[in-house]
Amino acid sequence: MSKYEQVKQELLTDKKTWLITGVAGFIGSNLLETLLKLNQTVVGLDNFATGFQHNLDEVKSLVSAEQWEGFTFIEGDIRQLTDCSKACQGVDYVLHQAALGSVPRSIADPIATNETNISGFLNMLVAARDAQVASFTYAASSSTYGDHPALPKVEDAIGNPLSPYAVTKYVNELYADVFSRTYGFNTIGLRYFNIFAKRQTPDGAYAAVIPKWTAAMIAGDEVFINGDGDTSRDFNFIENAVQANILAATANDEAKNQVYNVAVGGRTTLNTLFSALREHLIANGVSYTQDPVYRDFRAGDVRHSQADISKIQNALGYEPQFDIIQGIKKAMPWYVNDIIANT
Ligand SMILES: NC(=O)c1ccc[n+]([C@@H]2O[C@H](COP(=O)([O-])OP(=O)(O)OC[C@H]3O[C@@H](n4cnc5c(N)ncnc54)[C@H](O)[C@@H]3O)[C@@H](O)[C@H]2O)c1
Repeated sequence: MSKYEQVKQELLTDKKTWLITGVAGFIGSNLLETLLKLNQTVVGLDNFATGFQHNLDEVKSLVSAEQWEGFTFIEGDIRQLTDCSKACQGVDYVLHQAALGSVPRSIADPIATNETNISGFLNMLVAARDAQVASFTYAASSSTYGDHPALPKVEDAIGNPLSPYAVTKYVNELYADVFSRTYGFNTIGLRYFNIFAKRQTPDGAYAAVIPKWTAAMIAGDEVFINGDGDTSRDFNFIENAVQANILAATANDEAKNQVYNVAVGGRTTLNTLFSALREHLIANGVSYTQDPVYRDFRAGDVRHSQADISKIQNALGYEPQFDIIQGIKKAMPWYVNDIIANT
């Protein structure tokens, strides 16, 4: 039995209380769904900056009434220490996801990104430390690798950040490390590489590439590729990221005060991604015949990204269960149904 299966079995008979910040967002709502299906008690904190009530409503529709009873939502803001402290009361495991994502958003408004991603993060660390939670797992980012040229990316070798967003995510890691040395409060940072799946919004200027392109293809609109299409990413299906969070939260002390790559260990170019999305849309009854439109590279973007996942495999027993194609297959029906239903 895999480590993940073992932990899930244990949770089913040992109810814990989890706090998910950013619970109305893409990753947060998927964490919520899995934890409620494991009969856990979950507190969720969100201010709806980029999250949606309809994400929570969808989770409600996917779990039993009894499981939904285990969820308490707090509408609040991580920039307010009092909201963080209230949310941390009685919590065993914190999964801190709330942040303003997106490199271009941070370039357009670095102050807003800084306030949520650094001040808000620090509030959460203080609140969780004071509440003496059993573990604190936070969403770090592959953007921390910045301009370091090595591939695959190994946790210890990072370069210069290429955007304000990347600075904030790196500062999170620095604060987490200082909290370990100064207060003995040990955390785990999960450096997510491009995660995708259901409930990732295709809307807005800062949408991620997979939902954005899928929505454009469904609408028959042009798909823009920034650069020559050889830019590559280690796209990771949400279930793998959920697994990493649950393993991190329940890990023993030796695995703490560390950051881990969370990815598949693959590398897919934007050109290949375009073809794969088009092919899987056809399988879901949507035909798209246009070629992509190439335009300038985007400021702040890393050229290539691929993770070495051996550290998280060895320390946490993480085993990604979905590669990019298996993930696209699982995600596509949701995109087709949701996007068509909302247009
Ligand atoms: N999606 C990815 O591929 C990816 C990659 C690397 C890192 N991350 C990180 O993972 C985390 C979750 O990302 P996501 O893709 O689910 O984004 P998301 O925007 O869907 O979710 C973020 C959630 O945080 C909430 N939030 C924002 N500011 C807040 C505040 N001040 N107080 C309370 N709630 C607030 C938003 O309303 C939203 O529900 C973020 O920390 C992000 O930086 C994501």
